[in-house]
Amino acid sequence: MTRMRAQTVSRPWAGYCIAVVMATSGACRPESDKTERRESARAPVQAPAPEQPAPLHGVGGVEGVDAAYDRGRQPARVIAALGIAPGQRVADIGAGLGYFTLRLSDAVGPKGQVVSTDINDEALERLRKRVSERKNVVVRKAAPDVPGLEAGTYHLILLSEVDHFLSDRATFLTRLRPALAPDGRIAVTHLRAMRPPLVAAAQAAGYAVVSEDTSLPDHYLLFLQPVASP
Ligand SMILES: C[S@@+](CC[C@H](N)C(=O)[O-])C[C@H]1O[C@@H](n2cnc3c(N)ncnc32)[C@H](O)[C@@H]1O
Repeated sequence: MTRMRAQTVSRPWAGYCIAVVMATSGACRPESDKTERRESARAPVQAPAPEQPAPLHGVGGVEGVDAAYDRGRQPARVIAALGIAPGQRVADIGAGLGYFTLRLSDAVGPKGQVVSTDINDEALERLRKRVSERKNVVVRKAAPDVPGLEAGTYHLILLSEVDHFLSDRATFLTRLRPALAPDGRIAVTHLRAMRPPLVAAAQAAGYAVVSEDTSLPDHYLLFLQPVASP
């Protein structure tokens, strides 16, 4: 009787003891577990894991990292809509980490060229590493509000989610104009809510919206060309 009472009284304590001991010492673990702990204590110090780049905000994403993000942006559909021909020269203004740069590089092929610009040094450094094997990509630092493109040679200039950073969209678009090849186009894509200020600036800078792709889930994608002088 006394024994039974003692067992009953001791159960809560025993449970507490087991929980504390398991959590702190591992003494109540199965033998295999304890062996693993002893072995890991003896194991040589492992080389640190390769450094993972810290998240960098405001510079866009990298395709393949976040499926939901890619579903929203539809990079393959965007590139198809840009209508790039092999051998063309294109610019990716505000390329960030190069969300579109790699696909642009594939689209222009070995005889074409992609010039990717940004103002952010860390983004530029990461992008350079990502495209180091691609001979048809030039990564270039730009000054804010200065496109930094050669005159007369770009078949397509892409501005993807960058125009809201510009201090004056119309001025920047005006400065882009000399870089266009004859019949060159500017493609602008951003979230749909960002379309009105871009269109107003484009008109002020002497461009017309010559075509538009409306198939993207969240983004507009439109094409600008200079309005012909009368
Ligand atoms: C939101 S990210 C967009 C990145 C990529 N284009 C995309 O679609 O995911 C905007 C990028 O534009 C860059 N940027 C801002 N102002 C710029 C300017 N005046 N010229 C070039 N790049 C600029 C930022 O540093 C940033 O990397």
